[in-house]
Amino acid sequence: MARLEIRDLHASVEGREILNGVNLIVNQGEIHALMGPNGSGKSTLANTLLGHPKYKVTGGDILVDGESIVGLTPDKRAKKGLFLAFQYPVSVPGVTMFSFLRAAYNAVHTDEKNQAPTLFEFREEMNEKMKLLGVDESFMHRYLNEGFSGGEKKRAEILQLALLKPKFAVLDETDSGLDIDALRVVAEGVSKIAGSDLGVLVITHYQRILKYIKPTFVHVLYEGRITASGGEELSLKLEEKGYGWLKEQAGVVS
Ligand SMILES: Nc1ncnc2c1ncn2[C@@H]1O[C@H](COP(=O)(O)OP(=O)(O)OP(=O)(O)O)[C@@H](O)[C@H]1O
Ligand SMILES: [Mg+2]
Repeated sequence: MARLEIRDLHASVEGREILNGVNLIVNQGEIHALMGPNGSGKSTLANTLLGHPKYKVTGGDILVDGESIVGLTPDKRAKKGLFLAFQYPVSVPGVTMFSFLRAAYNAVHTDEKNQAPTLFEFREEMNEKMKLLGVDESFMHRYLNEGFSGGEKKRAEILQLALLKPKFAVLDETDSGLDIDALRVVAEGVSKIAGSDLGVLVITHYQRILKYIKPTFVHVLYEGRITASGGEELSLKLEEKGYGWLKEQAGVVS
């Protein structure tokens, strides 16, 4: 069983320290929800995990199956089984969903002998996943994210997740821009794909997404550190009480 381990992670962006010692272990098959106030460093954590060049690890480590991935480029991390869905997916005019997904699929599934999957193999796999997620064929001929609604972007993201079959997925959800149907797309998609061999770290502001994705654990990131962890009841407490009590608990005076 694969394991993603974040060990005393410190990271900075633009020379400013944002993560101040994050510890978290995600095993394959577990769903972890990460909550926390605006600016607490949730997206920074996601970007640091992926290896975004702007986010520098200044201490600690990120390990997949005991091996550090900190020195690896994003594509090498993807080969190790990490998947990150962006909070604001970019639109790429002129690139269809089909060609984008094929390129991503080939990049991850090309074997040691440099054999990429055939077009037939890709189509078979794609058709199966589109059926599973209820995605319409016409979707594949559209340009990547161009004119996509929030829900359609999410559908594209989940389709990508289903095709790439990562060991670990980091989903950074804004929630805010998404209506309840878009949230449901993500939640139901993840539930369909998850199972024993996917570990998920889902970043969210609202408890409502967790009604559909049943998290194994809930964590709160506060000023670059995980200050509380628990089960689903923690998300209910946050929904009810907000984040103020964490401040007191962390002994932060501001
Ligand atoms: N690329 C960047 N350039 C400059 N500052 C950044 C960058 N990314 C993050 N930061 C800063 O790091 C801090 C944490 O931001 P981050 O986006 O990680 O918070 P968040 O927890 O994801 O917030 P939200 O809930 O609003 O999505 C903020 O002060 C932000 O301005
Ligand atoms: Mg964010």
